[in-house]
Amino acid sequence: MERLQKVIAQSGYCSRRKAEELIEQGKVQVNGEVISELGTKVNYDDEISIMGNVINVKEDKVYYLLNKPRGIITSTTDEKKRKTVVDLIGTTKRIYPVGRLDYDTTGALLLTNDGELTNILIHPRHNIEKFYIAKVNGIPTKEELQKLSNGIKIDGFKTSPAKVKLRKMDKKNNISVIDIVIHEGKNHQIKKMFEAIGYEVIKLRRERFAFLDVKDLKSGEYRELTVKEVKQLYSLNNK
Ligand code: URA
Repeated sequence: MERLQKVIAQSGYCSRRKAEELIEQGKVQVNGEVISELGTKVNYDDEISIMGNVINVKEDKVYYLLNKPRGIITSTTDEKKRKTVVDLIGTTKRIYPVGRLDYDTTGALLLTNDGELTNILIHPRHNIEKFYIAKVNGIPTKEELQKLSNGIKIDGFKTSPAKVKLRKMDKKNNISVIDIVIHEGKNHQIKKMFEAIGYEVIKLRRERFAFLDVKDLKSGEYRELTVKEVKQLYSLNNK
């Protein structure tokens, strides 16, 4: 929510001062209702008209890369009032996560208010790479890992080829750590893929989304993308 005069000024219609005058003169309507009180808060999707003309409210686009901590839900709101990934970002803009990481999954998550870019990034046609590191119970055999990399049936759908590599094995504790790169984003995909070969994922981290990694961000830290990075993400549309 933002103050009405600020939103009008941001649209480029007039200055904030002039907007305040127009509001006080009863010339501004929000969703068809005259609003003459200064400081009324509006949303960027409210319809604002001035003397009968609807103005084009444009919110600046913002892009954040978050190193998502464990125990936070990937959503904009939560009915149980739990903290969401959006609450971790210091902005008043209406951002949302691009895709999803489970409550207990950590790592790279993009948040933005740019719907056009979001659609590009989540479209399966664009094959965006997602690199995960999974800690699993047990030590899968080469053949089992090969099944993951060939593609495996989960929920009646066959996953596309993945890059899979055993990073570490701890025979004593019967635990292994596996690198896996996938291009899709089905719900709980990595956990279900391992389940399909008989292993449980006990820790999951997304190390990289497209070319964006979170090596320089501590858990819960975030940064804005650079203009160059945003352009680079848009260019994935042409690949
Ligand atoms: N796959 C999963 O199982 N969980 C995630 O959070 C992301 C990918």
